[in-house]
Amino acid sequence: RQSIEARAEKTLALIKPDAVKHMGKIINAITTSGFSITNMRMCQLSRADAEAFYAVHAGRPFFNTLCSFMTSGPIVALELMAASSITKWGDLLGPTDSSTARQQAPNSIRGLFGNDGTRNAAHGSDSPANAAAELSFFFGKGSNIGRCARCSGTTL
Ligand code: TYD
Repeated sequence: RQSIEARAEKTLALIKPDAVKHMGKIINAITTSGFSITNMRMCQLSRADAEAFYAVHAGRPFFNTLCSFMTSGPIVALELMAASSITKWGDLLGPTDSSTARQQAPNSIRGLFGNDGTRNAAHGSDSPANAAAELSFFFGKGSNIGRCARCSGTTL
């Protein structure tokens, strides 16, 4: 029989620039849904950071818009832990497109706080391998992501 710790899975959540003003409500939704927040930091991505994080989408028509948006203000990175956290956070996030989310999952994070297909409030890892890589990107030893002076004093 597995312990609770053995079944727990980690994932990366990002509160994107459009939703940082709603971070209190989003963090409340995360904790009341049964996730543990095991690490958290606020930062602002450089262009190179955003391009590296979304490298899998390089060449897609939305890549430039996506990277511009992701560097447009501070973000909040969270390490979430729960049983099946990748699926569980994906369900709480809702569909990628915010208008679809509003129709199909009105109480999801994107249904409540998303704006369009790009400015969709939050991110979640889509597989255990990507969760490990994305958590390392933000929280790994030696991670230098977003460590700059621009975050201080930003008006949300
Ligand atoms: P994707 O991994 O397909 O969605 P999700 O974030 O739901 O896992 O896409 C990554 C991000 O790229 C998405 O959150 C927003 C952006 N994006 C666009 O701007 N336009 C698009 O048409 C798609 C598919 C994604």
